[in-house]
Amino acid sequence: MPALHERRPLGLTGIEVSPVALGCWPISGMTSLGVNDADSLATLHESLALGINFLDTAYCYGADGESERLIARALRGRRDEAVIATKGGIAWGEDRKMIRDARPETLRRHCEESLRRLETDHVELLYLHGPDNVTPLADSAGELKRLMNEGKTRSVGVSNFSLAQLIEFHAHCPITAFQPNYNMIQRQIEADSLPWCRENHVAVAVYWPLMKGLLAGKLARDHVFDAKDGRAKYSQFQGEEWVRNQELIDRLRPIAEECGRTLAQMAVNWTIHQPGITSALCGAKRPEQIRENAGALGWRLTADQLARIDAALEERGAAATMRAVT
Ligand SMILES: NC(=O)c1ccc[n+]([C@@H]2O[C@H](COP(=O)([O-])OP(=O)(O)OC[C@H]3O[C@@H](n4cnc5c(N)ncnc54)[C@H](OP(=O)(O)O)[C@@H]3O)[C@@H](O)[C@H]2O)c1
Repeated sequence: MPALHERRPLGLTGIEVSPVALGCWPISGMTSLGVNDADSLATLHESLALGINFLDTAYCYGADGESERLIARALRGRRDEAVIATKGGIAWGEDRKMIRDARPETLRRHCEESLRRLETDHVELLYLHGPDNVTPLADSAGELKRLMNEGKTRSVGVSNFSLAQLIEFHAHCPITAFQPNYNMIQRQIEADSLPWCRENHVAVAVYWPLMKGLLAGKLARDHVFDAKDGRAKYSQFQGEEWVRNQELIDRLRPIAEECGRTLAQMAVNWTIHQPGITSALCGAKRPEQIRENAGALGWRLTADQLARIDAALEERGAAATMRAVT
């Protein structure tokens, strides 16, 4: 099998997914600039052509589910080529205020609406997008298990959970996949939830492998963020953190060059080869981005290169914790 068509197990489901997945938040157009349907559909088609079969979306990706609707359009006549993961439990209120709602009736409504938008009768994976810290986890888990038993989803996942929440939820509904943030500089899960997932055969599909494009090393030190660019609000792109990140990029760049790869390809390659990581969710809105990121597949960093990456990361020091839910 060609390396680009490498597959990994999605937990114990028997479903197999590509180690590089397409993150479908950018095509929602909510924070990325210059998004249009033609490019978004071309990005989805290019992903499938590259052997990327794992598509990650959510009920709240778009003011009116634009991401799920685009996936449906791209998959007409070829639904069986993709493993669709969507999420419920987050919606947008007035002034685009994020509403977290993990009540059973809301999860059911989100799931049914997502299936309509996706033009399918089931998804392969349905996540709870995040706990709402009010609804008992047992109630959310129970409803997701019912949706699975009804065939609306083949499996259940959770996102933005602590280890304690993973354990509690798993007692009520088997977790197939966990979706935390993880990349070279955000490695909090290594201390607790990642080992637990490995022990419990839970797939780990990580978001922000490129730290929203930062680790691709294409943003100049003096880059001025457009007011509508969603990245500007994150600490990683400001002040002291920004300077430290740029210094890290300078140290990583020669290693990527030595590999004959781009920084983005090296950052994603590093991510998908960390123990316990199943897939890296690479957000893209244009075909050339996912084409470049698919170049993370089919090769390995040497022990010496990994040691030099470790040294560069150590020199940078721990990154500020940065959480977001999209
Ligand atoms: N569960 C959750 O709460 C949660 C939260 C966040 C994300 N996610 C999922 O994870 C996915 C990934 O997160 P993300 O899309 O926010 O961030 P990401 O994958 O870290 O970065 C995506 C952005 O990086 C830039 N980029 C991508 N490929 C590039 C390349 N080769 N060279 C240079 N820049 C490149 C693009 O920005 P520009 O086009 O603007 O340059 C793209 O929009 C999402 O799409 C979503 O599916 C889930």
